[in-house]
Amino acid sequence: MTGAVGWLGDAYLWVKAAHLIFVIFWMAGMFMLPRFLVYHMAAPAGSAEDALWIDREARLRRIIINPAMIAVWLIGLALVANIGLAGQGWLHVKLAVVFAFSGYHGWMVGLSKKFARGERPLSERALRLANEIPSLVTIVVVILVIAKPF
Ligand code: HEM
Repeated sequence: MTGAVGWLGDAYLWVKAAHLIFVIFWMAGMFMLPRFLVYHMAAPAGSAEDALWIDREARLRRIIINPAMIAVWLIGLALVANIGLAGQGWLHVKLAVVFAFSGYHGWMVGLSKKFARGERPLSERALRLANEIPSLVTIVVVILVIAKPF
């Protein structure tokens, strides 16, 4: 399966490179956001420090994680159309994992907007646990796409 035979033709490797570039931006932002919220927890609602974190989280959403997630999905689906789904067990599991991770993205975005309204709906411990999810997803997805175990 070279991919050069698919509809992407000679652009295949350039498209895969673009996929990885946006994957790195997305994952970097998703490592940062829950960490920002852990630090934001200590800032009293309405304080100057609270306002700083609200601004940092808003820019992280608008400039990095939301555009990067959209780009990863669009380019990723183009790559799916290039290699097809039949007999690609690793890709089926990968799509399920990244679909669930996109749900986590939505949850974190919603949480940061609640923080901006002065709410603190989760404990610091729960936030620190949630912060581990992007690492787990990275380990699972990279093993799936590189080793293609099934
Ligand atoms: C969000 C939706 C995503 C879709 C639809 C998707 C789909 C794909 C497809 C079809 C390929 C090409 C496989 C090939 O031609 O060999 C690919 C490559 C790759 N993807 Fe994704 N992907 C997504 C997200 C991610 C994420 C979140 C990560 C990492 C955390 C990731 C990491 C990779 C890597 C490392 C490769 C290169 C594999 C290789 O060189 O063989 N992808 N992706």
